[in-house]
Amino acid sequence: MKNRNTGVSLEGGNNRRQFLKLAGYGTLGLISAGLGPIFNHLEASQNPKAIQETEFSPDLDISLAARPGEVSIFPGVPTQVWRYHVRVNAGDDNRVMDIPRSYLGPIIKVYRGEKIRIRFKNSIPEESIVHWHGLHVPAIMDGHPRYVIPQGQSYLYEFEVKNRAGTYWYHPHPHGRTGPQVYMGLAGLFLVADEEEQAVGLPHEEYDIPLVLQDRIFDSDNQLVYTTGHRMEQMTGFLGDWIMVNGMPDFTLPVSTSAYRLRLLNGSNSRIYKLAWKDGRPLTIIGTDGGLLERPVYRRYAFLSPGERLEIWADFSDSPLGFETSIISLPFDAGAMAGGRMGRGMMMGGGMGQNLRLPNGAGFSVCKIKVTKNVIKQQTLPEELSEIRPLPQDEAVNFYNPRQFYLTMRHMQWSINGRVFQMEDVADDEIVQLGSKEIWEFNNTGGGMMHMMNMPHPIHLHGKQFRVIERSGVMHEGYVDEGWKDTVLLMPGERIRILVDFDDYPGLFLYHCHNLEHEDMGMMRNYFVRES
Ligand code: C2O
Ligand code: CU
Ligand code: CU
Repeated sequence: MKNRNTGVSLEGGNNRRQFLKLAGYGTLGLISAGLGPIFNHLEASQNPKAIQETEFSPDLDISLAARPGEVSIFPGVPTQVWRYHVRVNAGDDNRVMDIPRSYLGPIIKVYRGEKIRIRFKNSIPEESIVHWHGLHVPAIMDGHPRYVIPQGQSYLYEFEVKNRAGTYWYHPHPHGRTGPQVYMGLAGLFLVADEEEQAVGLPHEEYDIPLVLQDRIFDSDNQLVYTTGHRMEQMTGFLGDWIMVNGMPDFTLPVSTSAYRLRLLNGSNSRIYKLAWKDGRPLTIIGTDGGLLERPVYRRYAFLSPGERLEIWADFSDSPLGFETSIISLPFDAGAMAGGRMGRGMMMGGGMGQNLRLPNGAGFSVCKIKVTKNVIKQQTLPEELSEIRPLPQDEAVNFYNPRQFYLTMRHMQWSINGRVFQMEDVADDEIVQLGSKEIWEFNNTGGGMMHMMNMPHPIHLHGKQFRVIERSGVMHEGYVDEGWKDTVLLMPGERIRILVDFDDYPGLFLYHCHNLEHEDMGMMRNYFVRES
């Protein structure tokens, strides 16, 4: 029997080189040269018998369906959405938690080291595939757009959870349609726990609260409105005037006089948040994309760009009953193209078809917090949270000559090194060696028409957590570059260097801008991890 999970790695080195050569030309030859195992996988995943034949014995076996539905967001007419639904086939039922009254998918909770089987069924009227944002899984399990399945079909995921404890998430990843599908409601949290985390003794259960931040526009019938499809709107990205928290507008979080672990995910298509407490106290940050930091860090404010996560410690044990505060987003300059202050009234005349009521960089309240219950529960912030594996820079094979990526615009199209996404395309400078560590440098220097075309870009790598080792040309404070990251924000004029350890999983993975409209228009590329 063929082990489907090894996917591409079953091939010999010659085939793979040939695959890469052909990849740019879209010839039919590439199907036999490179994609065979993938098709085997698809066939097997659609054949229920095949499931019994695999040697994979899951700790948690769930069915995940994406389908149209409706949810009451405002009084009156319910809102038509697309939703993820989850059913537990085998394993602990408590691992899946619905968020009541939300279009968001259920929260899936797993432990590091567990084997997970997910039977995805696509029941929305277009192609889709699910990506596990932040998870370190084999290429064939990562939800690359070339694995999309049409309505009515299924895709089988089987992987072991190798990530550290942390806040990860899942969302669709079909090429060109990720923005609209996420917008319609397809997104959910994927929380990983492990022993190291549990030994720290952080607030848990009702004191461990996810806050998924998104923005939306609704018409007078309570229905979602996406972009007009106008090129200018694609260039900036979708911006809504309703700030949704966990899928709900005007969100108020009732709390007890206790400490909380708040897990924030920016699940917005393109909005960036500059988070702060309304009452002026600093943010106590305990975790980022890839889990807990070594120790808490403090910021007056912190940026959270699309795809990123932040975990904060919030202690209300000294607050009186009835105390109210808010998490707010402070105003900031998002650059000329972001529908921000600079963009308004300039050149294209008033925000370029963008939503002017709440441009990127406007200030607003994200969510209210109200102390409604007295409990006697003193908990102190741990000084040490986790151990972060050292990753010495000088072990990078390209320490003296980092890989360069320029985020630029060409012909009204965002690109990376002047290239846009093509399904199978990998350029010579996008191939890395399995087992090596590398420094990648991203430059948000803008392009064409100079600063008029500058925008922030949150850059995301699939398959890997990395470390941010350098940031220069800094225009803002408020970055949390500590810990393990999978998405990192570059404001206009900024440059960052990250260190990535390609220690395992060969194959084709994505890197892209997580502004979903940028991603959909092709600000996304493949990188290939070569075995030999
Ligand atoms: Cu949130 Cu390509 O990913
Ligand atoms: Cu991802
Ligand atoms: Cu971008």
